[in-house]
Amino acid sequence: MIIHSRIWKLATSLLALLPTALALVGSGWSLSNVPANGLRDVTFPITIVEADHFAGYYFAQQFNFAGVSDVGYTGIQPRPDSGGKVVLHGVFSSFVPGTTTNDKNCSPGADGGPGVSCSVEWNGVFNRTYDYEVKTTRNRVWVGTAIDTVSGARVQIGSWTLPTGSGGILGSQVGFVEWYPWNVVVPPNHCANLPYQKTIFGVPHTTHAGSIGTQSLSYEYGDCVGQVAFHTEQVVSGVENNCGFRGATGSGKGVRTLY
Ligand SMILES: *[C@@H]1O[C@H](CO)[C@@H](O)[C@H](O)[C@H]1NC(C)=O
Repeated sequence: MIIHSRIWKLATSLLALLPTALALVGSGWSLSNVPANGLRDVTFPITIVEADHFAGYYFAQQFNFAGVSDVGYTGIQPRPDSGGKVVLHGVFSSFVPGTTTNDKNCSPGADGGPGVSCSVEWNGVFNRTYDYEVKTTRNRVWVGTAIDTVSGARVQIGSWTLPTGSGGILGSQVGFVEWYPWNVVVPPNHCANLPYQKTIFGVPHTTHAGSIGTQSLSYEYGDCVGQVAFHTEQVVSGVENNCGFRGATGSGKGVRTLY
């Protein structure tokens, strides 16, 4: 599993909210008019415009709940094609201690700490927007669903129950792009060997009346700042970011499928 440091607990700056010093790109989001006890649903659109069809990248949005300090994540990872078809790997995780689940897509623990991790794979489409819906269906039960914005098809990623005292989703957090193999091993010359990716973080939305979403320009952070051809701009559907190099393997050793 991915190993994320939990440094956001210790510091107050926006950058410190993000996972690991080895991640690449952050992108803040917010929603207006959020009740003190949080929202019952938030939907995060993410489009992988272009990425290699192998594992390594993780594109995710983080969110917090009222009454508990630890975050949840939802997002998407590329996988190798299988049987000539694209495979996408959806993730829905809680880092909140005391989270429980009995969902077949979920297991206890998140990145080696407390929480619950859920994932599911489906035959998807690159350069298509999937909406990652995080929604409470009943008391403290949260369901993560990937919705194909072209076909309308819904794939449930997982579900879990937060502990007593937790509320709804709060009004701002940050998304990130990471090349997660570096959380385990940092190969020589790693920045120059980062595979190319181009992603759009769409503007988050909710069914709560009067709440308007914003997605801020992305920014680089971590140990490859200035070395991975990073670019970000506002586009119609949200905020685009890209980094890395076409044909790069991520290994620094010319080995393409490592993970
Ligand atoms: C992604 O889709 C957009 C709009 O549908 C299109 O303009 C663009 O060329 C596509 N990019 C890639 C890499 O396929």
